[in-house]
Amino acid sequence: MAVIGYFNGRFVDPAEACVPLDERGHQFGDGVYEVIRAYGGRPFLLDWHVERLFQSMDALRIRPPFDPAGCKDLIVSLLERSGEAEAAIYLQVTRGSAVRNHLFPEPSVEANVSATVRPVKPGASEAKPGRLLLLPDERWLNPWIKSLNLLPNVIAKQTAHDAGADEALLVRDGCMIEAASSNVWFAVNGELVTAPADRYILAGITRRFVLELARDLGIPVREEKLPRERLPEADAIFLTGTMSEVYPIASVVEHPDIPCTSLSAERPPARHVAPEQVREVWTARDLALVERLRAAFVERVREWTGAIA
Ligand code: PDD
Repeated sequence: MAVIGYFNGRFVDPAEACVPLDERGHQFGDGVYEVIRAYGGRPFLLDWHVERLFQSMDALRIRPPFDPAGCKDLIVSLLERSGEAEAAIYLQVTRGSAVRNHLFPEPSVEANVSATVRPVKPGASEAKPGRLLLLPDERWLNPWIKSLNLLPNVIAKQTAHDAGADEALLVRDGCMIEAASSNVWFAVNGELVTAPADRYILAGITRRFVLELARDLGIPVREEKLPRERLPEADAIFLTGTMSEVYPIASVVEHPDIPCTSLSAERPPARHVAPEQVREVWTARDLALVERLRAAFVERVREWTGAIA
């Protein structure tokens, strides 16, 4: 199993120190990224990932170090170099390296490109239904940009983990809009409800794929925000993400001292949440629809890998 690393044209050991201290990704999180799944030795939904990477660079005024075709060639060559058929490709582009200064480097510097390719266990992702912890969404106002600034996501996911949950279910303006590293979907009366791809969520590539899948299967979808109070109406919940694919949820918990409705102006204490402090507020009633989507997802990937083999 080959793990490979890449930095500005050089293949490196991912554990090797090769990124300069003046790197703006390191100093400011001043960069963007993509995570791409390879199935059968080919990067899945590559065009969509590259399109989103360019949108993120454009939003942050990072001068692209390649054109879209060059970006795809790089991803394919990294994968070929790894020799892995089932892999996670992580690609990061930052504004470049310059003496620390909030202002963009003047004269401008070349963007830095780094990547890793790591093998992934073949077969479908985790099928055992997971648990979500409700938390307030404390991210900035542009989570639609896939930027390296993931600290609120990291804290939310760790808090969920500490609480014995698998993911955080983030509530902004009273609505359950996204998870810490995946998009969230609710099945309500036979319809799927997922937050619209506005500025407040990342427009997931898997979300986009599952929207098409649901349409093809004749499952109605509403791109609407579901208020927290309507959680009891959900028959099923699932997450989508490049690595988690379609991930069913069994239960949702909340912590009595972590309000999700409105953010208070007070500084919140560090959250040390333990599993015994949370209470269950929702359990899955019927996962049939999620299983149908999961199966259809796996089948689509199988067809796709077969078609390109
Ligand atoms: N996470 N929402 C957030 C906040 C995410 O970080 C991700 C992906 C998604 C799902 O997007 P996609 O379907 O394009 O993977 C939604 C990646 C995998 C990560 O940060 O590791």
